[in-house]
Amino acid sequence: MAYKLLEGKKGIIFGALNSDSIAWKVAERAYEEGATFVLTNTAVAMRMGETSTLAEKCKTEVIPADATSIDDLNNLLTRAMEILGGKIDFILHSIGMSPNVRKGRHYSDLDYSNLDKTLDVSAISFHKVLQTARKMDAINEWGSVVALSYVAAQRTFYGYNDMADAKALLESIARSFGYIYGRERRVRVNTISQSPTVTTAGSGVKGFAHLLDFSERMSPLGNATAEECADYCITLFSDLTRKVTMQNLFHDGGFSSMGMSLRAFQQYEKGLDDECDCGKASPGDHRYD
Ligand SMILES: NC(=O)c1ccc[n+]([C@@H]2O[C@H](COP(=O)([O-])OP(=O)(O)OC[C@H]3O[C@@H](n4cnc5c(N)ncnc54)[C@H](O)[C@@H]3O)[C@@H](O)[C@H]2O)c1
Repeated sequence: MAYKLLEGKKGIIFGALNSDSIAWKVAERAYEEGATFVLTNTAVAMRMGETSTLAEKCKTEVIPADATSIDDLNNLLTRAMEILGGKIDFILHSIGMSPNVRKGRHYSDLDYSNLDKTLDVSAISFHKVLQTARKMDAINEWGSVVALSYVAAQRTFYGYNDMADAKALLESIARSFGYIYGRERRVRVNTISQSPTVTTAGSGVKGFAHLLDFSERMSPLGNATAEECADYCITLFSDLTRKVTMQNLFHDGGFSSMGMSLRAFQQYEKGLDDECDCGKASPGDHRYD
């Protein structure tokens, strides 16, 4: 159902790769709610993905930008304001990538140039977006900037690897920049900590199907879907949440407040007779991880 919550608002949406992407669902909902916006992604993603199909549907354009490049971000913000006819009201940062995860490098054996890339793409790019926008004074008063995070920023999750460090940094940037941007220009900055969701980035996480099942059983309301995440983003872009800033907002069906649920407990009990196949750990053996 559409409420016209974003009527007259202008935005930039990063990270819609294909129809599974959370950013894709956010773009569809923002369009329904009356917003005008531009889409952006890397040149490679634009070639490989389906972003132009989404742009047609939302009657807009895709501007290529690598979110780690200040030149690209300057160009993106300039072009976005030209196309949309003025300053921006909302930005979605929906970007994540870890070369260590992609290449199967274990957390206790990270390649540090890969780690630099993980942090730059998945977290520091958020600072770059905010800093570039602030220098250009590209965001209207009471504008809203949202990035997507995951609970591995606070708790350890098997297999999430260096993305956990990236998410912790991302959430810290939201607080630190939220203070400056809020005090100076009344721009709010938040992160949404979303349930595991079946997307291209999500499916790269080790043991993703088990993680999805575990958090579904643990969450009293079940996992939040990408569509539900989009709904939540819309409320944060709208004028209904004007005093919400510098927060990491859990959108996870209650998962982050749980210790053990009956549904997870019952499932665990079924497996108690089978001995865990951990064996004896030796150096370089990650069976205990
Ligand atoms: N899927 C999940 O389980 C889940 C859960 C919590 C949070 N998140 C977060 O949601 C966000 C979106 O991920 P998704 O699950 O929709 O997956 P996705 O793969 O559809 O989106 C990731 C996007 O990041 C873009 N990207 C990568 N490098 C970039 C760069 N240098 N510059 C600009 N864009 C770049 C990709 O092209 C892609 O569009 C990520 O921050 C992810 O960590 C995902």
